[in-house]
Amino acid sequence: MDKSNVMQFLSVFVILLLHVFNSHAASSSESIYVTFLQCLKNHTTSQDHVSNIVYSQTNASYTSIFQAFVRNARFNTPSTTKPLLIITPQQENQVQATVLCSKTIGLHLKIRSGGHDFEGISYISDVPFIILDMFNFQNITVDIQNEIAVIQTGASLGQVYHRIWEKSNVHGFAAGVCPTVGVGGHLSGGGYGNMMRKYGLSIDNVVDAKIVDVKGRILDKKTMGEDLFWAIRGGGGASFGVILSYTVKLVVVPEKVTVFQVDESLEQNATDIVFQWQQVAPHTDDRLFMRLVLQPVNSKVVKSQKTVRVSIEALFLGGADELVTLLAKEFPLLGLKKENCSEMSWIESVFYWANYNDGSSLNTLLDRKHYKVHFNKKKSDYVKSPIPKDGLKWIMNKMIELGKVGLVFNPYGGQMNAVASDATAFPHRAGNLYKIQYTVTWEQSGEAVEKSFISQIRMMYSYMTPFVSKNPRSAYLNYRDLDIGITTHGKDGYKEGVVYGNKYFGENFERLVKIKTAVDPENFFWNEQSIPTLPSKAQGT
Ligand SMILES: Cc1cc2nc3c(=O)[nH]c(=O)nc-3n(C[C@H](O)[C@H](O)[C@H](O)COP(=O)(O)OP(=O)(O)OC[C@H]3O[C@@H](n4cnc5c(N)ncnc54)[C@H](O)[C@@H]3O)c2cc1C
Ligand SMILES: *[C@@H]1O[C@H](CO)[C@@H](O)[C@H](O)[C@H]1NC(C)=O
Ligand SMILES: *[C@@H]1O[C@H](CO)[C@@H](O)[C@H](O)[C@H]1NC(C)=O
Ligand SMILES: *[C@@H]1O[C@H](CO)[C@@H](O)[C@H](O)[C@H]1NC(C)=O
Ligand SMILES: *[C@@H]1O[C@H](CO)[C@@H](O)[C@H](O)[C@H]1NC(C)=O
Ligand SMILES: *[C@@H]1O[C@H](CO)[C@@H](O)[C@H](O)[C@H]1NC(C)=O
Repeated sequence: MDKSNVMQFLSVFVILLLHVFNSHAASSSESIYVTFLQCLKNHTTSQDHVSNIVYSQTNASYTSIFQAFVRNARFNTPSTTKPLLIITPQQENQVQATVLCSKTIGLHLKIRSGGHDFEGISYISDVPFIILDMFNFQNITVDIQNEIAVIQTGASLGQVYHRIWEKSNVHGFAAGVCPTVGVGGHLSGGGYGNMMRKYGLSIDNVVDAKIVDVKGRILDKKTMGEDLFWAIRGGGGASFGVILSYTVKLVVVPEKVTVFQVDESLEQNATDIVFQWQQVAPHTDDRLFMRLVLQPVNSKVVKSQKTVRVSIEALFLGGADELVTLLAKEFPLLGLKKENCSEMSWIESVFYWANYNDGSSLNTLLDRKHYKVHFNKKKSDYVKSPIPKDGLKWIMNKMIELGKVGLVFNPYGGQMNAVASDATAFPHRAGNLYKIQYTVTWEQSGEAVEKSFISQIRMMYSYMTPFVSKNPRSAYLNYRDLDIGITTHGKDGYKEGVVYGNKYFGENFERLVKIKTAVDPENFFWNEQSIPTLPSKAQGT
């Protein structure tokens, strides 16, 4: 055989192998389907119609159900390992049965609400697994009288905002700016947005929750106890059970709020602006949230040259006149004028921040699928002291050199300083000036392309070392990043878990481990970055 024949033979062989493997996977999915469905039937009654909620790999709708909440193209390639089954419960006892059956049949369970996890760990796995998909849990009950809402975890933030607005134009909820983000992951991991400096994180406004635990019981705040209720406010839900709903406090918003976006480039002394931003944004009036976005772009001044665009995007819970006066005093380099500001209702500001300015109606907030999927990788950092001017210049030059990595600075301060770092499992409170989000986004598939972009963002992260928090180098759980450590399934996970655990949870990590050990000693609710149980020899000491 000559070379091309060998290649041909090899490729046929590989295709054959893949075929055998796939049909094997499909047939095992089929037999697991039969067993699983029987088990669900055993745990429910015929009125519960469990045969409507289990999708095997051969089901015609399997792929569309799987892909519906994939938000990162990296995790939707032909080589991505797919779930053996997808379970889509429509009522609480079906969730209970799913947990019990996964446990008795010995199937690894992934829980998905909005699917926005940056590393896709709600719907992919290296070990055989099934998905419990919560998307049918979208009920939101808003009680304006008592200023609370009960929100099922499969709802999106856009749905939450819209439902509140339907009942009141002076109430809102403190959570993220992307309307398609799911409540299940967002609230269990902390949840921040542009009212954070005034009202704290989403979890700071959570007053109750409902969870299905490893024994299949439904627990609320009273029956789960203070410890578990503490853990599922910032410690992530997936380590502890399936969260069905959160009860939250609404927040008061003025009838008119103000937004602006201002863009500058490096040639326009943007470094000075970024430097001054650091002195203002984390310390200014709590009602003002000014996000800063740095992005390498082509220069408009000198064509063919690259520069860094600096954008400041703001929400002010007040009028434009007051804002312009405030910033003239505190942030003169910005040169903000009233013409640069827009006054609008709070719900319109949600829409504006979502970049839904494509002529669509406010109802778009209810559309959970309004999302363009790209390939991306993200990372996070915390900054505790201002970066000096020459440091900022150096950083921006590195961004130009690398070419694609963008940074977003989200200011802390205000209410974030007022909440103790151990009040919830989320530890990053007073002492943090801002959080950095790193992003690299690309459009072409392929391993080589992916490798090159991921290495770019890792390099940027490494360049930032001198400027960010140390010992530990902190990270935000909801900006999932498997680079900072993972646990291996079935291993004594503590040694691995403490590595990323300290970064995500700081001094709260040890309490999370104790709670995890108490509520899920067998580590059924394992994932790549779950809270580990205590090493068995240390147990009981
Ligand atoms: C475009 C975009 C914008 C974002 N903007 C913000 C922002 O403004 N502010 C912010 O704080 N974050 C933001 N995030 C991050 C976001 O908060 C997290 O990705 C969050 O975990 C997503 O929740 P989800 O339900 O959509 O994700 P999923 O991928 O479904 O879940 C994420 C994690 O939570 C677990 N989980 C999900 N549902 C449940 C449940 N019901 N019970 C137990 N565990 C569960 C999953 O197993 C997984 O471990 C953004 C993400 C994206 C992609
Ligand atoms: C369902 O229940 C029957 C009768 O109790 C039992 O024989 C069977 O093993 C159960 N099947 C599953 C998959 O749990
Ligand atoms: C696919 O699965 C769903 C959910 O269990 C079920 O309702 C539907 O009948 C299945 N479709 C086919 C063609 O088997
Ligand atoms: C949502 O509310 C409706 C109306 O009360 C109810 O019929 C449905 O079962 C609820 N859905 C879930 C998932 O709880
Ligand atoms: C940038 O700063 C220099 C020195 O402070 C000043 O002379 C120049 O006018 C500034 N450029 C712009 C575009 O503001
Ligand atoms: C603010 O608005 C004025 C007037 O429209 C405009 O000239 C200026 O460029 C804007 N400033 C910024 C920083 O966008």
